[in-house]
Amino acid sequence: MSVILGIETSCDETSAAVLRDGILLSNVTKTQLVHHRYGGVVPEMASRAHQKLIVPIVRQALETAGVRIDEIHAVAAVYGPGLIGSLIVGLNFAKAFSLARGIPFIAVNHLVAHLYSNFLEEDKPEFPYVALIVSGGHTILSFVEAPFVHRVLGETRDDAAGEAFDKVAKMLGLGYPGGPAIDRAAMEGDPAYVSFPRADIGGAYEFSFSGIKTSVLYHLRKNGLLPGNGKRVEPPVLNHIAASFQAAVVDVLTKKTVRAAGEHRVRHVTVSGGVAANNALRKSLRGELSARGIALHIPRMDFCTDNGAMTAYIGMLRLERGDHSPLDVGPAPSIDLVDEVICHA
Ligand code: KG4
Ligand code: ZN
Repeated sequence: MSVILGIETSCDETSAAVLRDGILLSNVTKTQLVHHRYGGVVPEMASRAHQKLIVPIVRQALETAGVRIDEIHAVAAVYGPGLIGSLIVGLNFAKAFSLARGIPFIAVNHLVAHLYSNFLEEDKPEFPYVALIVSGGHTILSFVEAPFVHRVLGETRDDAAGEAFDKVAKMLGLGYPGGPAIDRAAMEGDPAYVSFPRADIGGAYEFSFSGIKTSVLYHLRKNGLLPGNGKRVEPPVLNHIAASFQAAVVDVLTKKTVRAAGEHRVRHVTVSGGVAANNALRKSLRGELSARGIALHIPRMDFCTDNGAMTAYIGMLRLERGDHSPLDVGPAPSIDLVDEVICHA
């Protein structure tokens, strides 16, 4: 019997979840809207918002779950990667909670939590599998061999896929976050209108999206379509450029994911992160993978984007193994997928 409280504050979502014996009782997430008017996440504002939200969100998660504070066996919180000011809020809350209640504290790597987020769903992947994490901050392809045995195959060398969506949306005069806006605009567009470069750099599984982004910029500039010089991109050209850009990103993501699945002979692939919402990406991956008899797992959106449930899930696995974390674990803004802070209880 275990009741875990999971806390997520790595970027601009404040989230808390309660997991009892592997069953999710609540997952309360508040996306901070304050950043929208600035066209991106403002770190200082994110940490202030987390500070305001953390107690009410945890309270709401406990109420929804129908669980009292004294029924919680362990508290798990993300310690990195992410924005330092944001991480500090959730991490310190969890450490104080652990100290006050005399329960174990478990520091969770945010990327590890993304890797296993599909286990929150009924339809679980089977080991080994290839996992693609595509969000505003990350684009990582990894091989998950067994529980907690995973390695990075490749990641982006510059912009994350979601970041490229957001930046191109800005150039096209669409709002923030740009991914959903481009996804919508692209539905009415011709993906073959402009052939933007599909960067296939270096290692087989490395990504680069800054070249595609720059090509969109040059295309808009060359055709006098950059917002601000009197003209702006209007439909249907707007739709065509959105579709062409999206097609380039989706092609690269699909090609490398399918290649990784083939070379590692897996029967399952998981995708998580905000960009997993993208309709063209889902369609492309589903088509290519099902043609090879490989199952695609994309959790519901609440579990794709940053959430406390996946933190709680890792907390549960770690508690089962007796892996707690010392209370002096600090925020680690730049850790990668493989780092874990464990002290065996
Ligand atoms: O995982 P997430 O909510 O936050 C972090 O980055 O941690 O991902 C947000 C990113 C943003 O860059 C957003 O533009 C992108 O996911 N996104 C999308 C779509 N929905 C969200 N990108 C493409 N198509 C979408 N439908
Ligand atoms: Zn994330």
